[in-house]
Amino acid sequence: MSRKLFIETLGCAMNVRDSEHIIAELKESEDYTLTQNAKEADLILINTCSVREKPVQKLFSELGAFNKNKKEGARIGVCGCTASHLGEEIIKRAPYVSFVLGARNVSKIGDVLHRDKAVETEIDYDESEYAFKDFRSSPYKAYINISIGCDKQCTYCIVPKTRGEEISIPAELIINEARRAVESGAKEVFLLGQNVNNYGRRFSGEHPKTSFTQLLQEVSKIDGLKRIRFTSPHPLHMDDEFIEEFATNDKICKSMHMPLQSGSTDLLKAMKRGYTKEWFLNRVAKLRSMVPGVTVSTDVIVAFPGESEEDFEETLDVAREVKFEQMFSFKYSPRPLTEAAEYEDFIDPEVASRRLSTLQKMQDSILDEITEGYLGKVFEVYFEELRPDGYVAGRSGSNVMIKVKGSEELLGKFFDVKIIKTARMVQIGEIIEP
Ligand code: 5AD
Ligand code: SF4
Repeated sequence: MSRKLFIETLGCAMNVRDSEHIIAELKESEDYTLTQNAKEADLILINTCSVREKPVQKLFSELGAFNKNKKEGARIGVCGCTASHLGEEIIKRAPYVSFVLGARNVSKIGDVLHRDKAVETEIDYDESEYAFKDFRSSPYKAYINISIGCDKQCTYCIVPKTRGEEISIPAELIINEARRAVESGAKEVFLLGQNVNNYGRRFSGEHPKTSFTQLLQEVSKIDGLKRIRFTSPHPLHMDDEFIEEFATNDKICKSMHMPLQSGSTDLLKAMKRGYTKEWFLNRVAKLRSMVPGVTVSTDVIVAFPGESEEDFEETLDVAREVKFEQMFSFKYSPRPLTEAAEYEDFIDPEVASRRLSTLQKMQDSILDEITEGYLGKVFEVYFEELRPDGYVAGRSGSNVMIKVKGSEELLGKFFDVKIIKTARMVQIGEIIEP
């Protein structure tokens, strides 16, 4: 009888894909099947994120709860970015943990499983050409890694220390993977990397030079593939060539993630982001002028060390001018192993909370204005998720989440949908009969 695996995934899309790789390896080589119930699992895995401190603190309380409620003899493993940065420390603090597997060591899952108290967290381990077995949690949309690691040195960010240096995956492997996914029914591929538009700078073996723009062109030639998405691009590398490809390639979904982080050029410098407020605004303007209907999402950090009221005003200013369709905003969280954690001019927590709430309130009202404008509009929706309330949900090319009344037969299909009720997160629509 096969054993049961419970896996909890925190963090970004990269982690979602890492979990799929772990599941694939364990299903094929170790005969595990998935369960949603940790209490009946023989193996409990937490795939962790360490980008901010909160989820790291939560990890140990969660581990305790899993340990208390687990089935007799069940094992617990910690994977992902926190595994990379805390390593052995995890087993010291939670001795019932069986193994620790770093974000750049996913292919070693079969190995650590059979070594008690194994810790594999090498950040220069190269998995860029490892042939992972196949598992996808959605048959409709395929996540595909195009690079591992990150070469940027943003001073707030722990990721280069958990995922190591950036190595691109050879284009040929990416295209083959995308082709296989499309043959098995996926109509959308989601290309993943910490810094996708920097693709092709370094491979681990000898491979022809390919830029991200060329990669997009190659992927879009795949017959039967309807939509291409990617995350995350870096505003610094949004050159004209890339924006032109984005604008003119019909298969590329017209939504761009542009992580601003701060609207203040001084702070962008302290963060080592490599661009100015003006460059960012110029890129958004170019994008909006070339791509009608494009949506732009962003990430913002408030209260980075040394952020003055004027710096914060600059961030509000960019938010007001750009009117992002989606914003993920966070209070700065000092992370070990990062340059900014050594800075001395931390912002008072109350000021940080106030700034975050000011920004979020402004964003909410911008969003209300944007979503109200969706009423009566028609979007082409790719349906991919059955909701428990009798609705089926999907996204427009521009990444607007839309749900309609319906059932399974809509899944994996495209329909034109007219919006009949708007809200901040999910729009309600009805299918327009062809
Ligand atoms: N503190 C707060 N937010 C952070 N992010 C990355 N590092 C930190 C940090 N130390 C945010 C950035 C990034 C997103 C994934 O998380 O906005 O784009
Ligand atoms: Fe993803 Fe970064 Fe979190 Fe790692 S630390 S899971 S790369 S968001």
